Order: sequence, then C-alpha cells, then structure tokens
Amino acid sequence: MARVLLALAASLVALAWPASCQRLPVVAPVTKDPATSLYTLPFHDGANLVVDIAGPLVWSTCQRGHLPAELPCKSPTCRLANSYHDWHDDDKACTAYPYNPVTGACAAGSLVHARFVANTTDGRNPVSQVNVRALAACAPRKLLASLPGGSTGVAGLAGSGLALPAQLASTQNVAKKFLLCLPRGGTDGDGVAIFGGGPLHFWADPWTDYTQSMDYTPLLSKQGQGSPAHYISVKSISMENSRVPVSERVLATGGVMLSTRQPYALLRRDVYRPFVDAFVKALAAQAAPGGSVARAARPVAPFELCYDAQTLGNTRFGYWVPSVTLALDGGRDWRMTGVNSMVDVEPGTACLAFVEMKGVRAGDGGAPAVIVGGVQMENIVITSRNKAFVPARETH
Ligand SMILES: *[C@@H]1O[C@H](CO)[C@@H](O)[C@H](O)[C@H]1NC(C)=O
Repeated sequence: MARVLLALAASLVALAWPASCQRLPVVAPVTKDPATSLYTLPFHDGANLVVDIAGPLVWSTCQRGHLPAELPCKSPTCRLANSYHDWHDDDKACTAYPYNPVTGACAAGSLVHARFVANTTDGRNPVSQVNVRALAACAPRKLLASLPGGSTGVAGLAGSGLALPAQLASTQNVAKKFLLCLPRGGTDGDGVAIFGGGPLHFWADPWTDYTQSMDYTPLLSKQGQGSPAHYISVKSISMENSRVPVSERVLATGGVMLSTRQPYALLRRDVYRPFVDAFVKALAAQAAPGGSVARAARPVAPFELCYDAQTLGNTRFGYWVPSVTLALDGGRDWRMTGVNSMVDVEPGTACLAFVEMKGVRAGDGGAPAVIVGGVQMENIVITSRNKAFVPARETH
C-alpha cells in the first residue's frame, strides 16, 4: 500500500514538474496621466515609466549606482540596442538610442542594469513581489520633456529583444507575450499590464477569465520590416453595419499600427475621408434613444466632427453613435462603441476621436493607413502574439 502511494506521489511530482518550470506572469498597474493622456506603470521605488507600446527599449534617467552593462558593441544584445539606429563603431561601451515618443527627441545613453519591481499574479491577485533585472538605456534628464510629471523614462512594449516583454520572458521564464488593459482615467481605477500571458480576471467579476471572453485584440509584431511596433491585420472597416469604402489593399499599404502616445486614432487621408463620410451618414440615419437628433457643434482642433453632447444619447457603452468595427484577419472583430470612438473635449462638446494624419499624402505607404490611439484601446484587453506580420499585399 505504502509503495503504491509512494509511486502515486512520484507520478504526481512528475506531472507537476513541467508546470513549476514556467513561472507566473508579472503584473503591473497602469495609470493614465490626465495632463498628457499618457499611461504609466511603476518601475521601482516610486519611479514610473511611460508605456510606449511601439517602443523598442526600456529607458530611464541615469542614476548614480547604475552599473553600466559590460557589453561589447559587437555583442548580440548591443546590436539589438542599435538595430533601429545608425551603426556606431565604438568598441568600449554599448550605446543605445532612447527616444522620447512624444517629442521624438533622441539621445545617446549607455545600457545599464536596472531593476523592475513588480508582483507575480495568478490572474486574480498579486502572489509575490519580484525584483527583475532588466537592461535599460540610461538617458539624460532633458529627454523627459513632455512626459508626465514623476515619470523617469519609457517602458517600450514593442516586439524587439530589449523591450520589456522580451526581457521579462528571458529573466522570468514566462511566455513572450503580454496583456494590456488601458484605463480611461479619472475615477475608473487603474488598468493593468500582465507580462507572460493570461489568465486575467477582474476584481468585480472574479470567475470570468477575460482573456477568453472579453473583446480582445491580438497584436502582431511587424519585425524585419524596419519597425518593431505592433500591427493588426485589418481586412475592412464597418460603420454600424455598412462597410466603409476602403479596400483591404489600402489598409495593408502601411498597415494598421497601435500607439499609446497618440491619445486618439489618426487616419491617412485615403482612409479618413471615406471614414468620416460614413460616420456622418450613419449618425444621421440613427435616432438617439429619446428621439433626439445629434446636433453638430463648432469643431475643436484637432477634431473635425464635434457634437453637442446633450443631443447624443448616452449608454453604458458611451455615447450612442454608430459603432466602428475593424474586421481582423482570422475572423475576429474589434468593435468600438462610443467609449472608444468619442472624446469629451470641453464641457458639453464631444468629438469623434479619429483625426486626419497630417503631412502624409493619401496612399503613402511610408505611413500607416491607421494609427489606433489610446482612447480606442481603453477598457479592452489587448494581447500580443509573437508572430511576424505578413501583410497580404504590401505595396512598398
Ligand atoms: C504587490 O502587491 C502588494 C499586495 O497587493 C502591493 O501592496 C504592492 O504594492 C505590490 N507591489 C508592486 C511593486 O506592485
């Protein structure tokens, strides 16, 4: 009998072994800064980093006591740090080129060992605090211009090797993917970033795994094509139930990119014009609950379509406006209701949070067709997929 139990115990250990090798995902709260509409997460000791979903690096202002990473310039890690910039042939220290996602300013800084203090999670609660070693580019203070007060740098979440998801994957032995749920801000509470994958349960509804049931949007990394940013493969855009006349080819020209530094979506001219025309038409065709008709208001730059908020119906999903649906490759739909398509710009005025890209010609494949912004990504779960982006027909 004892021998049977022992054998059983041994086989249970064997079964448990693979699971214990993979460690728990790492969770960080995400906060929205009201002044800049940027999102931050805590790095360590009260220092916050700005979340840049398209950023290839982690960078922070230099501090005494940071140890320079002893990396020869020819090392694979240093090559990664340089891969989106000109090659510099200095063999002593590894120089990275952190940039400010808001101002576009760039600086040279050495790669240093930093640490990221966060909690592991079972998807419901924090489990234990971890002190994760990370490589960060050490940047001068002037690179913080236009970033939220209290932030000391940027956490890049792009699909590259020195971005936070890849670094956590290698030091924490978790999957190289992340979930991101950006907060609306105000009294709505924090959002969350989970590195290493789901599950994700919300406090108010602990039994549902949101990575399964909630609208979520898989991201693809557009690597090997000059940009480590995350793209989604969009086949068509619908306004309420009718298709916006923009072809799949136009959307694939430049692609559909995600950005956390843009508070709202930017559309290239060849997407923007048909998009706003479809919105105006669909809004005119619908009656708000109560029968009121949306009344246009004076546009507030940079928005073109603004409305008297009182004439727009209000629902649990934001203003009662035509929904915008992105039909994603693979059959999934990303449906945006008023919460994700409208912004309050001043008391009583709400505007369509889709704006024309400036300085880019229609059809210019050097620019994305669509840059999805922060408002569009709030209150939904975004998950990365570790897969190369292969547009069906790319013309550049
Ligand atoms: C980890 O979780 C504990 C318990 O909820 C919390 O008090 C602490 O602030 C968390 N630490 C970090 C770094 O998020």
